[in-house]
Parts: sequence; C-alpha cells; structure tokens
Amino acid sequence: MIKVFPSILAADLLHLQQDIEHVLSAGADGLHVDIMDGHFVPNLSFGPEIVRVLRRTFPGVFLDVHLMLASPEKYLNTFVEAGASALTIHHEAENALECLHRIRSLGLPAGLSVKPGTSEQSIIPVLEETDQLLIMTVEPGFGGQKLMPECVDKISNLRKLGYRKPIAVDGGVTLHNAPDVTKAGADILVMGTAVFHAEDRSHAIHQLHTL
Ligand code: DX5
Ligand code: ZN
Repeated sequence: MIKVFPSILAADLLHLQQDIEHVLSAGADGLHVDIMDGHFVPNLSFGPEIVRVLRRTFPGVFLDVHLMLASPEKYLNTFVEAGASALTIHHEAENALECLHRIRSLGLPAGLSVKPGTSEQSIIPVLEETDQLLIMTVEPGFGGQKLMPECVDKISNLRKLGYRKPIAVDGGVTLHNAPDVTKAGADILVMGTAVFHAEDRSHAIHQLHTL
C-alpha cells in the first residue's frame, strides 16, 4: 500500500499539534520532518527539539527525519535520542557512507536522498547500505515548489536495477502527479503543500492510499 508522510514544513506552525492531529486522523502514515542547516540548502527549518516534542506528543507516530545537513554525522546521535524513527541523509553530504553505517549501528533504518542533479548511477555502489531511498523531485530547501518530472525516471531506473526496498519521493507531489510517481515504483509519498493545504485532507490521503 502507498504510504503518505505529510511534511510538517507545510503545517500551520502556530497550531502545529492541532494540524498534525488532523492529518493523522485523516490517515497519514507518519510525519516527514525536514531539518535544514542553511548550508547544505539555502534555508533553515527545525532543530532536534521538534523531533523530541513530536515523539513526546505523538509516541506511536513514525517520524521520518530528512537531514538536509552538510555535516550530518555531527547530529545523528542527537536525532536518534530525540526519537526519530528513520534518518535520511543526502548522498551529496559529507561522509554519507559512514553516516549510513552509523545510522544502522544506532538501530534506525538508514535512508539516502539524492538531489535532482544527482544521478541514480552515482548511488549504485551504496544501495546495499540503505534501507530506503528518498528521491528529491525539487531542489531541496523549500516546500511549495513544482515537481520536476525528469526526476521521476530515477525511480523506475532504480526499480529496473533491482532495488526492492522502499522508495520515497519528496517535493511537489500532488494528487495530480502521484499516479505517475507510484507507477514509476515509489511506495512512499512525502507531501507538504498538497496535504496540509488540501480542501479535504481525508479525501486526499484516501485517494493516495488507493493508488
Ligand atoms: C524540501 C523538503 C520537502 C518539502 C515537501 O526541501 O525536503 O519535504 O517540505 O513539501 P511540498 O510537498 O510542498 O513540496
Ligand atoms: Zn523532505
């Protein structure tokens, strides 16, 4: 079944608990938490405290933490202790392979993300060290951007290469383009704007679950 992880970057930050309760009751399968350092991406978002309060407030919810950090190795322990359910680092970050090993040794699934400009060929040597992939379909750093269709081919190519673990897609995913993305082989949809700003969140998530 297709999983939907709303990205809290698009939530109403002044009413975050209420907004999250609403998307969870609307059927969300977990939460995507974007951590940005202002270096790896030209934006700042949340720190580890957000993961800590989310874990305290929503003990059973899957927290899919997306580390858009130049030097993620400095923060892996902190996010594990804060309560992340999975940590995804970027192939383009420092010491990516060592980070994948460290995340696993800390007991969490290790995710690897690639920016639009990074080919799927470049991650072939490390696929074995990953538990899931996060294919960026926008330049990371901001929500509300348009999906870059040329990135969707990476998903089908990775499936053709025999990658059988979960592939998530992140950036500009909507009800309109989600069918193409899942047909290509994605099984997790990270959606900020299209869920948090949906007219009817339950209807949107139900539609996505049936893809
Ligand atoms: C962008 C983030 C995405 C973003 C998704 O750097 O990694 O998770 O919040 O938001 P939408 O779905 O609005 O593109
Ligand atoms: Zn993200």
